[in-house]
Parts: sequence; C-alpha cells; structure tokens
Amino acid sequence: MMSRQFSLLWLSAPCQDLQQPRHPSCMTTTDRHIIILGRTNMRAVDIIIKKRDGRQLSREEIRFFIRGFTEGTVSDYQASAWAMAVLLKGMNDRETTDLALAMAESGEVLDLSGIVDIALDKHSTGGVGDKTTLVVEPVVSACGLRIGKISGRGLGFSGGTLDKMESIAGYRTDLTKEEFLNQLQELGLVLTGQTGDLAPADGKLYALRDVTGTIDSLPLIASSIMSKKIAAGAQRIVLDVKVGVGAFMKTVSEARALAKIMIKIAKLAGRQAVALLSDMNQPLGYAVGNALEVKEAIDTLHGGGPEDFREHCLQVASQLVLLGEGAATLAEARKCAATVLKDGSAFDRFRSLVKAQGGDVSYVDQPNKLPKAELIETVPSPRSAYLKRVDAKEVGESSVQLGAGREKKGEAIDHAVGIVVHHKVGDRIEKGEPLFTLHANEKSKLELARERVLTAHGWSAKKVKPLSLFYGVVK
Ligand code: URA
Repeated sequence: MMSRQFSLLWLSAPCQDLQQPRHPSCMTTTDRHIIILGRTNMRAVDIIIKKRDGRQLSREEIRFFIRGFTEGTVSDYQASAWAMAVLLKGMNDRETTDLALAMAESGEVLDLSGIVDIALDKHSTGGVGDKTTLVVEPVVSACGLRIGKISGRGLGFSGGTLDKMESIAGYRTDLTKEEFLNQLQELGLVLTGQTGDLAPADGKLYALRDVTGTIDSLPLIASSIMSKKIAAGAQRIVLDVKVGVGAFMKTVSEARALAKIMIKIAKLAGRQAVALLSDMNQPLGYAVGNALEVKEAIDTLHGGGPEDFREHCLQVASQLVLLGEGAATLAEARKCAATVLKDGSAFDRFRSLVKAQGGDVSYVDQPNKLPKAELIETVPSPRSAYLKRVDAKEVGESSVQLGAGREKKGEAIDHAVGIVVHHKVGDRIEKGEPLFTLHANEKSKLELARERVLTAHGWSAKKVKPLSLFYGVVK
C-alpha cells in the first residue's frame, strides 16, 4: 500500500543535488502524476516482478519498497525475493544510488557540521588481518584532524574493528549518540559501534542477504556500504576496496567497478570519495585474530609492525589527511603520517582514545596483558621453497574455526585465539623454519587449524614475485 504522505515526502527530494529540496521545475512527469494521483496503487510484488524481468526500477518504487520493508509492510520473504532478483538482473548506477539513499534515509542521518569542518570517514570492504582503522584513525588525529568512526563487527572470515577493540578490557563500543558527539568535540577522536537508528533498512536487508545467498551483488554491496556512510554523516570518505581470494571482489576489474559506483553514489549525495584498490590474496600484516591484531597495531603505532601493514596504513592515512585538508599535497600528508608514527604522537592518540572509551590503558602500555590463548604452537615449514600462496580466505576461516570470528550474527567470540603467519608471498623459506603460529583454546580446533593453514600455503621451486599491495586509486 502506498500512502499519499510518502509520495509527497518523496517529492521534497532534489533534482540533481539529492540533499536539496526539489524545485517544481525539476519534477518529472511521474512526479506530477504522483502528486495528482497520490500513488495509492504501488505493490511490492509488482516491484519484485519488474526487477525479476530485468527492468529498471524507478526512484519511487525503490523508496516505496525500502520504506515498506523498514516498517514491516513489505515482508522478509518479499525482500529476499527482490534481493535475489537484484543479484541476478543487476541495477544501473541511478537505481543503486537511489537504493543507497533510500536505506540511508530509513533512519537517522547524523549531521556533524557543528563539530567538524569536514566529516571524514574510511571504510574497508572487509578482509583478513585488516586492523587498519586502529592505526589510521590515531594517525589522522595526530595530524590535526577530527575523526569519528562508526565501525562494525566481523562476519564470516572477515574480521571486525569492534571485536578487535573489545580485546582491551573495558573498552566501550556502544557509545550513545550524545557520547559520540561530545567525544568528537572534546577529544576529536571516536571509534565506536552503530549509534541509535542508522540505516536500519540496511541492517535488516544485510541479515536477510546473509542467509539467502544474496551478498555477492555489486549494487547491493555498494548501496549497503554507502547508505551507512551517508547516514553516519560522512562528507569525505576513503574507501579501501579489497581485491583477491579473501575479498568480496575477486578481480581488479570487479573491485574497480565497485569503487566507481560507490564514488558515484557519494557524488550524487553531495559527498566526496576516493577508493584505493588493495590486495587481499594474503592476510594484511601477519596477525589474524582479535587480540593478536591489536598487539600488531600497537607495534605499528610505535613505529614498527609488519612492513606491508605499515605501508598500507600510511597510504590510507595520507588519502584521509589530504581529503580532510590537513595537507596541501599527498606527499605532505604522507610526511605527516610517517612523522606521527615515528614520534609517538599517533600512539598517544590511540591511548587517549582507549581511555576516553573506558578501556584499561595498561593493556595498551603492556600488550602482553591482552587476552592470551592457552595453546600456542609454532608449525615449521614442511619444505625448502619459495612461498607462492598464503590464502587469505583459508587463513581467515581457520581463525573463525578457532573461535576468533562468528558464523552467525550475535555469536560470542574468543578474543585470544588466532593465527600469526610468519611469511609473505615471494619469501624463500627453509624446511623447519617457523611457518605460522596457532593460538588456540581447544586442542581439537588447533589440530584442524594446523592442517588447514598448512594447505593454505602454496610452494614453488622457482622464485616468486611478491604481491602488489595496491592495484590503483579510483577518484
Ligand atoms: N559490507 C557492507 O557493509 N555491506 C555489504 O553488503 C558488504 C560488505
């Protein structure tokens, strides 16, 4: 059922700038018909059939469907059928943007303009060993910019920032909207979970997609990510789009297509985004698992850490500092990022963040206080050869099996367990050298992980080129 109220509400949408009121001169014939007829005859089933048959949905139809789904007048089974139709038939850029905006507007849209000059945000499309936010946020803050980030939990083989931060005793990831805004004002740095009612349609739809085989759809992924960024008030966004076996996007061309559509959505919503296409064929850094990753992030904040992870953080942070106008050029932004990692000021910002959100800073000062597994076993290399593959997905899934992640939303996790790989693709390794270390709390799980992580490593007798860290920047 479509109400007159919704039709009129929709007509206040803009012509080109989707954030501005729509002037009568930019109304389409359809818009005028909606005013005249009050559009009382739209039905969810017709919208599903239209997409099933491969036709384009209008803005009104998308908004009607998402609004109905949020309110419960469109059922879960209808939304599931519709998501499958979208997965099979696709959406064009305009439909994808309309979907992102409809989901963003399904709840509260934060306005940070009274607190920050430019609301910055970063988003990773998800990966294995991806603890980038833990380093990049304090770096950006130490370079003089305010940044408040709303992060998520891990799902499947891909880890989540909130789970990692909760390895630190007392750290709160459930700040209220008021606490979020106050901390952003006072400390200039926040890292928490979703506040209140941001993009509820996306939350509901994501849960359905997760159990109906409809995650792997470019328009659904792009609109899901961007709806949350828009709702969280982000004005300038750095998108870290992962490519490879441990990512949603398996090829550079798929990742580029996802990056392009997300950048377009940002533009149409009056925001700005830049995307880095980064490797996710092997884990980022060495540590995979919550407390293990926090420790690696702290090492990096002290100016050390794995080389690939450090370089990754420097590149993401530089793009953010540039977008936030904390530097005039990318080179200048990078110089600042490298300096604050070396001189300890980024670490100090991380410490202040943990303290402000109720965390026990002694965990940050002495990372050996972080949760530790009972069984720690280092597995030696079975041969002398060059490393050709460290399959990120297999390592990520092994870490989940050890208990570090969840198969279903809401499951409890074990912060102590995980895997530390000791080598990168291209390394020459001698038989008997440490290959990886397992951190487990159950013997049977450790044994399963040992076999799985061993087969995640691939070998070559001939020299192997190291993997690229990045495959390009999309603006
Ligand atoms: N991350 C999201 O937020 N949504 C998706 O659909 C996929 C990854």
